[in-house]
Amino acid sequence: MKIAYTIDELRGFIGECRTEGKSVGFVPTMGALHQGHASLVRRSVKENDVTVVSVFVNPTQFNDKNDLKNYPRTLEADCVLLENEGASIVFAPSVEEMYPQEDTRVFSFAPLDTVMEGACRPGHFNGVAQIVSKLFYAVEPDRAYFGEKDFQQLAIIREMVRQLSIGVEIVGCPIVREADGLAMSSRNTLLSCEERNRALTISRTLFASLPFATEHTLQDTKTFVENAINETDGLELEYFQVVDGNTLQELKEWGDSDYVVGCIALFCGKIRLIDNIKYKEDK
Ligand code: PAF
Repeated sequence: MKIAYTIDELRGFIGECRTEGKSVGFVPTMGALHQGHASLVRRSVKENDVTVVSVFVNPTQFNDKNDLKNYPRTLEADCVLLENEGASIVFAPSVEEMYPQEDTRVFSFAPLDTVMEGACRPGHFNGVAQIVSKLFYAVEPDRAYFGEKDFQQLAIIREMVRQLSIGVEIVGCPIVREADGLAMSSRNTLLSCEERNRALTISRTLFASLPFATEHTLQDTKTFVENAINETDGLELEYFQVVDGNTLQELKEWGDSDYVVGCIALFCGKIRLIDNIKYKEDK
């Protein structure tokens, strides 16, 4: 496995693979890798000749300075995991390498980016689009892999690729959960033991809402989830929205869409967590 710290080094490594006619899969990450990331890498290794993984904590997508400061950085351990999973190239650039000057590009993915995370974290998706587009230009992958835990991000990346006419296939991959149901997240490592126990209410409530939803209205299901979270000490609900899986716009009734997803964001102590559940699968 090779490690590139600059775009030139990265292009050199990838260029060699391209001259040999190899296909390139790409997994963008912010490091602090866990089994969720590993599943993306495994899928890419299976579907491509070469897998490139970027490890870069992107400052432009953090609207909270403390969140950026506290974000876990574990490059050495990340490289061990990536080597074991069969990644070919790790790209670990500095902030100066990715942003030699301020990126002033302003994207609009309305209405996808005006709801949920877009409404709660102003500028977040603009920062995501800035870095992911730069990474796509540097790597020029055939396929890129994103987890469905960041459901809204996945929809926005698909839209960005459409808007910028970037020739990459975006592959969405299912959420990977801990044995007890907690959705895997790099932020889970920041939870105390007590907070982690409380955080279990999230997946338990979402799973419990599935059978509940079959016998209740969408609005009652929403209230069911909201109440369960609000009644748990130490959890502070930011939103639970039941949306169309393509447009991300809130639905009023189950019959309003064939692809229905419930998306949740909350604070567990000081740590912000997100998760989602599909009430109706995409066809
Ligand atoms: O999902 C993430 O880890 C990040 O938002 C991404 C896509 C790597 C961009 O920094």
